[in-house]
Amino acid sequence: MTTIVYCHPYEKSYNHGVLQAITDRFTAEGREYDVINLYGEGFNPVLDSANLALYSKGETLDEQVKRYQQALKTTDHIILIFPIWWGMMPAMLKGFIDKVFLKGTVYDTTPEGALMPCLDIEKTTLITTSEEDSEIIGPFMEGYFTPLVLNTVGMNGVKWFNCDHISSGSAAHRNEFLASVLDYLAK
Ligand SMILES: Cc1cc2nc3c(=O)[nH]c(=O)nc-3n(C[C@H](O)[C@H](O)[C@H](O)COP(=O)(O)O)c2cc1C
Repeated sequence: MTTIVYCHPYEKSYNHGVLQAITDRFTAEGREYDVINLYGEGFNPVLDSANLALYSKGETLDEQVKRYQQALKTTDHIILIFPIWWGMMPAMLKGFIDKVFLKGTVYDTTPEGALMPCLDIEKTTLITTSEEDSEIIGPFMEGYFTPLVLNTVGMNGVKWFNCDHISSGSAAHRNEFLASVLDYLAK
């Protein structure tokens, strides 16, 4: 089972094109997948006072959070699709992490207080787009987000694809990027 977390507000975006190409391919191949469309589902990314009061107990008042946690628990491949905004993920996806990654379901703590994973996801595919060179985004994606967030909760086997020069680059560059992503996902 593959779970796709899609985070882009605009249906005519390149990111949406990537989502469409992947879901078309999975549907054609009869592969089982689920899409969490954060903007499309009207997810509220704000970890507010009432939810923060429950945070230390690993509880939430948000029914969408419960559904998303269930999806993470039952998936063996997670795909995150999002544009790079200010060198990182959009606030919507950050809010998904803040609200959904809860103690007891997504992570836990050892008696010494260190974080440990509750998830056991063997394959994690990150698909992003940026204007800047991938090398500039790399330290965040590979030096921070992957080891200190994803691996911490048990999202393993991380492979990152970034389509840089998204607007200034050619259509051939974007098509080549999409082909390499689809090729990887076919394996
Ligand atoms: C709020 C905002 C912040 C952005 N910050 C960055 C950035 O830090 N680095 C970068 O390379 N591109 C940045 N961009 C450009 C986006 O990455 C680019 O518009 C997007 O990847 C294009 O894909 P799309 O057509 O699917 O939206 C930013 C765009 C927006 C709207």
